[in-house]
Amino acid sequence: ERYRIDRPVGAATTKRAQVRGILEQLIDAELHPGDAIPSERALVTRLGVSRVTIRQAIADLVEAGALERVHGKGTYVTGPQVDSRLHLTSFSREMRDRGLSPATVVLSAAEELASDDVAYALRIRPNRPVVRVERLRTADGTPMAYEVGYYPSALFPGLLNRELGSLYDVFASEYGVVVTSGEQTVRAESADANQARILGIAKRAPLLVQERVTYAGERVIEMASSAYRADRYRIHMAITPRG
Ligand code: GLP
Repeated sequence: ERYRIDRPVGAATTKRAQVRGILEQLIDAELHPGDAIPSERALVTRLGVSRVTIRQAIADLVEAGALERVHGKGTYVTGPQVDSRLHLTSFSREMRDRGLSPATVVLSAAEELASDDVAYALRIRPNRPVVRVERLRTADGTPMAYEVGYYPSALFPGLLNRELGSLYDVFASEYGVVVTSGEQTVRAESADANQARILGIAKRAPLLVQERVTYAGERVIEMASSAYRADRYRIHMAITPRG
């Protein structure tokens, strides 16, 4: 298919903005995250605009995060970008709400005895059994977050025999435990070697780490740390004047 410059592209007025819009359509229709975009020369021929305009439009898409330049290799389509609204939702639901398909790789899941820190957060006695779950979360196949969570075994007997795709779904459907509130902090961190390998990013690349304690009524059901790729995930806040 040929993408034409006279196609309606919303409010775009300049040629640069029009070409950017057309490139976005082309990327959506023909390419996937990780694919290289066609060469400048091919785009000049195909879109019938100057090389300068193509370059500007590509630079705009790099700036917007839709494309990334890999030094000495080329320009590639990036993965999904998620704007988190910081609601109390599960990873699975948050991705689906954005039209992305969530998936989970369970890296490890085992019962252990709660350390003092874990016990304190979960409000149980130290050395009580907890289930530790370590997961890679993906959206449309792109690594998004690396999560480690602790769950009191007493609340979730047999949890290790369940499908650990969406934990919140399992808690609700198998145990009748519905999350009602949480406390969360977000801080910046740079990826260590392990996180970098799992998330497919460079060592020391930026991460946004959410630490969450989650409640079902009065009970603490979760203590979790989720390291999100900062190039794929950002936090969106609707802000209002302080009363
Ligand atoms: C988010 C939270 C985690 C929580 C997870 C549950 O990622 N940061 O603390 O464990 O959602 O998501 P799911 O139900 O998809 O497992």
